[in-house]
Amino acid sequence: MTSQYIAAIDQGTTSSRCMIFDHDGRVVGTGQREHEQILPRAGWVEHDAETLWRNTSAVIGEALEATGLGAADIAAVGITNQRETTVVWDRKTGKPVYNAIVWQDTRTDRICEELAGEHGASRYQKTTGLPLSTYFAGPKARWILDNVEGARQRAEAGELCFGTVDSWVLWNLTGGKAHVTDVTNASRTMLMDLRTLQWDKQICADFGIPTSMLPEIRSSSEVYGEIVDGPLAGVSVAGILGDQQAATFGQACLSPGEAKNTYGTGNFLLLNTGTTPVASEHGLLTTVCYRIGEADAVYALEGSVAVTGSLVQWLRDNLGLISDADEVEPLALTVEDNGGAYFVPAFSGLFAPRWRPDARGAIVGLTRFVNKGHLARAALEATAFQTREVIEAMNADSDVDLTTLKVDGGMVVNETLMQFQSDILDVPVVRPVVNETTALGAAYAAGLAVGYWASEDDIRNNWAEDKRWQPQMAAQERARRFGEWNKAVERTYDWAST
Ligand code: G3P
Repeated sequence: MTSQYIAAIDQGTTSSRCMIFDHDGRVVGTGQREHEQILPRAGWVEHDAETLWRNTSAVIGEALEATGLGAADIAAVGITNQRETTVVWDRKTGKPVYNAIVWQDTRTDRICEELAGEHGASRYQKTTGLPLSTYFAGPKARWILDNVEGARQRAEAGELCFGTVDSWVLWNLTGGKAHVTDVTNASRTMLMDLRTLQWDKQICADFGIPTSMLPEIRSSSEVYGEIVDGPLAGVSVAGILGDQQAATFGQACLSPGEAKNTYGTGNFLLLNTGTTPVASEHGLLTTVCYRIGEADAVYALEGSVAVTGSLVQWLRDNLGLISDADEVEPLALTVEDNGGAYFVPAFSGLFAPRWRPDARGAIVGLTRFVNKGHLARAALEATAFQTREVIEAMNADSDVDLTTLKVDGGMVVNETLMQFQSDILDVPVVRPVVNETTALGAAYAAGLAVGYWASEDDIRNNWAEDKRWQPQMAAQERARRFGEWNKAVERTYDWAST
């Protein structure tokens, strides 16, 4: 048994974290810093890429300090990240040419429409697994090249690098030596062929993105380079997984048919479908789940919901209804039900399974009876209803009904939400002991690459159940509420003109 640890960097939508894990997959130390959400216009969401890197670097120090560990105690580092968020930077100076454009940002709606042309939004779906949507990184990179002065010429001259946040963090950790991404992050750009796991030259040309600016695509578990600076100087970076794929790995969903749902800024349900990509007929994405070294890539069907936890933040930051996200549950418990109110948080349009860029948020069913408790409850219920929509699509695509739902992420400490989730799905909901599955998944990928963990069996053995919620709602009540939710969602269509 080793006395060493694995460090995982989780650069997420709202914060950057570093977590240190022991061989049993337990957290022994953490550092975390939030960063600003830059919202220059309706529909635009940006992050300062240099702040993301500075915070990442700082939280590594904090996590080590909290544990009293140093470089010699860390066997390897894994990276996991908010996916699709796009950074373009100068290869020589390392300076970003523009803020990072965040996955929730909808400014590329016109670009997507133009690219869809007469072929429609599914033009590239067969190759990439994705519909043309503002969600993905390729259109965001195209926007930067089209709109930042001189960027296109500099890109064509080979002076600029494109990357999702994993690439940006790795490039900085390795002092500019590694311009690399992994297959899972590459599968969120709309530029990679799912089967060859290489950039698709024709799609890159259609998007107007020079291939010279793209990172090299590698597996999710191998040594990419060494950290050059700071308290972990000399330690290898040996794992990269997009955050939702990392959570799937950390939840030990390692066999076809196993699925997890993460409750973060948004909700992301991933079903492992094995080594062949499965096309969705019900509004789900086909994506790479992970590739461990030279082994075959494993694929997933994914249902991505744009706004769940970020709705609670919106209640806090934009409405001032609560002063801390944790207050949403006590507020929701001041009332018995939603009082007839339904909250459809279509702030970035609607993602899976509806893919409606034209939708915008709405609260419907209001009467004078409705108070802030009902709104808090409606906000939580929106998370559960959206998850049910995704699970229905998943059941339809895979022909097998999910029998339990493994959950993780920040919102799963909310017992009221978890009970309602189980009620509205009519299946048990199960939370693992280690809820930090995203960081843990990245740690596993890095640890497998350097032999810290011997095989995927170690991951299975480390997984343990913490709590299970059983459905308690009568079938008729479930049907009534879900019916009302559907009616509410349809009210949000045809609002934004794209
Ligand atoms: O696809 C977006 C997703 O990766 C963001 O995850 O946890 O940062 O909200 P999170």
